[in-house]
Amino acid sequence: MKRLILGIETSCDETAVGIYHNSRGMLANSIFSQINQHKKFGGVVPTIASQLHIQKIHLVIQEALQQAKISLSEITALAVTHKPGLPGSLIVGLCFAKTIAWALQKPLIGVNHLEGHIFSSCIEHTVPFPHLCLTASGGHTALYKVHDFGRYTLLGQTVDDAAGEAFDKIAKMLNLPYPGGPIIEEYAKEASFHDFFSYPRAMKHKQNFSFSGLKTAVMVHLAKEHGYSITTKSTLPCTITLKQQVASSLLVCIADIFEDKIQQAHLQHPDINAITFVGGVACNHYIRNRLITYCAHYNIPFFTPSPQYCTDNGGMIAFVGNYAYEQKRFNSYTLDIFDECD
Ligand code: KG4
Ligand code: ZN
Repeated sequence: MKRLILGIETSCDETAVGIYHNSRGMLANSIFSQINQHKKFGGVVPTIASQLHIQKIHLVIQEALQQAKISLSEITALAVTHKPGLPGSLIVGLCFAKTIAWALQKPLIGVNHLEGHIFSSCIEHTVPFPHLCLTASGGHTALYKVHDFGRYTLLGQTVDDAAGEAFDKIAKMLNLPYPGGPIIEEYAKEASFHDFFSYPRAMKHKQNFSFSGLKTAVMVHLAKEHGYSITTKSTLPCTITLKQQVASSLLVCIADIFEDKIQQAHLQHPDINAITFVGGVACNHYIRNRLITYCAHYNIPFFTPSPQYCTDNGGMIAFVGNYAYEQKRFNSYTLDIFDECD
């Protein structure tokens, strides 16, 4: 039977809506990115994020419906990210989804944002189970064993900052714009992805990740050698060459950490049939290539979504909504941002 799921994502600074058809696939994936509004503050400002979600959400829904060439009344169910994320941002998407669902008397499906990322690799590819999934974004970094749709086990996660956060914060130290990941990649390329400064690979041989020490190590290095002020956190008037060398060393360090965690998990779970890399940081070509090389060496299939499904998007929420509907995972209209989904 024809099924159309509308997925809403507003957990951070993207107002995003996807529409997934159970046999025709993704019909729309509309995104309003707030990056330009947050750039001047060097990071996401939660109050501005909520305000912009309120201003844009109905327009993004309208755009998605136009892209999919359907009307709102044709939607079978509403899926929505209800946790985790910035509370003021989550509330906007959740209230909007609940209101539409209630008004049209359609089922409501609460989706965990991380589940959205985990299965984003399955939107465009048939990924065999079980597989390992490395998810890395501005808010999260974790490794999962994925058993089936909706069934996954956490193997390790960051105990402090996320990998994307390390890129963003270190870019800020170097006086580079937000978000840091893409510009760090550009600068690292200019330095040929060479490891100049051998920053520490924290938690080596452990299951969890840690990136806050890496941020401190870069800060101490810049303060000692290049006059960066730790107290005022003044941005650094350093040369382009130094920025490129720091960016390159940082990127190689994070790629090494990722490869190390994957290798350990792979050794402990030899039954896995694939490895996936998802989340905003998965846009990074250097890290992707490192993981592709790893997987080729062990003859294991590697999957990563196209960039539109790596950064936060409504498509991945609609996709999870589709199989959650099959599994009859529905929520009541009282769903809250602090509730468990199932
Ligand atoms: O998944 P996402 O859009 O939002 C969160 O759920 O956090 O990820 C955003 C993060 C930012 O920290 C950004 O710097 C990082 O993804 N990112 C990258 C690249 N593009 C975005 N990190 C490394 N390399 C990139 N090319
Ligand atoms: Zn995300």
